[in-house]
Amino acid sequence: MQRKVIVAPSLLSADPLRFGEEISAVIAAGADILHYDVMDGHFTPNLTFGPPILKAMKKVSTVPIDVHLMINEPQQMVEEYIKAGANMISVHAEVVIHLHRLIKQIEAAGVKAAVALNPHTPWQSIEPIIPMLHHVLIMTVNPGFGGQAFIKEMLPKIASLRDYIEKNGLNTQIEVDGGITPETAPLVREAGATMLVAGTAVFKASDMAAAINSIRGC
Ligand code: DX5
Ligand code: ZN
Repeated sequence: MQRKVIVAPSLLSADPLRFGEEISAVIAAGADILHYDVMDGHFTPNLTFGPPILKAMKKVSTVPIDVHLMINEPQQMVEEYIKAGANMISVHAEVVIHLHRLIKQIEAAGVKAAVALNPHTPWQSIEPIIPMLHHVLIMTVNPGFGGQAFIKEMLPKIASLRDYIEKNGLNTQIEVDGGITPETAPLVREAGATMLVAGTAVFKASDMAAAINSIRGC
């Protein structure tokens, strides 16, 4: 079955000294949305960007920005990312006790809400709230760094979530993040993913447009 697939280049792999130019170039190359990886040095060993850079990006981006909060206690910071202009926000299931409340809060602000799952977290742990989500983000690496190898054991997890979504007539999208390249993209598309995040494979490509088209599958 042919599903609409979108590509979300991750700015983690963009050249930080040429951020504005990299954003314009990746949008011109066909990025459907931009993926903004927030790391806090606690949930993830690494540290990245916060709300001020997101706010600045909103001035140049002509596509929606998908904020992936890889931080502890995201409920304390979510309003800042909403104010900074996030179009979509994903929070990790592993660090939120009142996930339903936080999803409703994001949604009430007019932002698309999503839940991200580390490789060890089964999607079944969030089953009751899946109908409320714009997307479920299935991590295909352990969060923290770009350029890691795709964890192929995540393919049955993607496929079983796709099966659940179809059987229940839901419109929830499946986003995958980590190690997505022109080689691994067909596997996740086949398993049922519809939003493909790619950092290294897009920003380090000699031809960004060709890389995006190949990951999208057209
Ligand atoms: C990993 C981040 C990813 C990362 C993907 O913790 O959430 O979005 O940027 O990078 P690649 O595509 O290089 O694996
Ligand atoms: Zn991410």
